[in-house]
Amino acid sequence: MMNIAIIGTGTVGSTLGAGWTQRGHSVTFGTRDPQAEKVRTLLGSTGAAAATPPEAAASADVVVLATPWNVTVDVAGSLGDLAGKVVVDATNPIASGLQLAVGTTTSGAEQVAQQLPGARVVKAFNTTGAENMAAPIYNGEPITMFICGDDEDAKASVAGLARDLGFEAVDVGPLHAARFLEPMALVWIQLAAVQGLGRDIAFKLVRRG
Ligand SMILES: NC(=O)c1ccc[n+]([C@@H]2O[C@H](COP(=O)([O-])OP(=O)(O)OC[C@H]3O[C@@H](n4cnc5c(N)ncnc54)[C@H](OP(=O)(O)O)[C@@H]3O)[C@@H](O)[C@H]2O)c1
Repeated sequence: MMNIAIIGTGTVGSTLGAGWTQRGHSVTFGTRDPQAEKVRTLLGSTGAAAATPPEAAASADVVVLATPWNVTVDVAGSLGDLAGKVVVDATNPIASGLQLAVGTTTSGAEQVAQQLPGARVVKAFNTTGAENMAAPIYNGEPITMFICGDDEDAKASVAGLARDLGFEAVDVGPLHAARFLEPMALVWIQLAAVQGLGRDIAFKLVRRG
């Protein structure tokens, strides 16, 4: 069982929180308004707790960022000292018109890490739609959650959290590989929303033999 803080109670945060509480993890949402009706409803359906973002982060082993990109670096910087904690960056640095807001010689994840000295940042849960985080089994097989980060133990923890939801986890390497995983999210969005394939699509790594 892990103590997980999820910053943001939107589509991604609420889906991940529901999945992890169902699997026995302790989840506290970090939210701008812990008393908001939507937050109380979420707590009722998941059994999670809610606090301000710095409070939620302070008591967690794993802090998940699930906020809009345009506020994420500031939110990360407002969380206090997260040295030693695992920080999962699930965000995508997307600008209007379906463009990367940062990249490709840096990444959102690296900008987040700059705000959090000593934190063990892992990029994960950004390359697929939230519906797939709730239901990651396709045709009896787990779809792939690609992760990257500079700390092996942190990646092992996040891979475990991905497997708890039903994903296969694949390690893509150091945090700077987020420069590749963030554009990959745009491929998913382009296929789902622009090419018209819809949101019931997912990436899966297949191996010969
Ligand atoms: N939607 C997907 O399928 C998907 C998939 C993979 C990755 N992502 C990425 O994950 C991140 C979250 O996406 P989402 O779809 O969950 O977004 P969302 O539904 O808009 O939720 C974002 C949450 O962030 C919190 N927040 C904190 N400061 C905020 C501010 N100034 N303005 C608005 N919200 C603020 C809010 O929670 P409180 O009101 O509780 O503070 C809000 O509910 C984004 O970076 C997105 O690109 C999304």
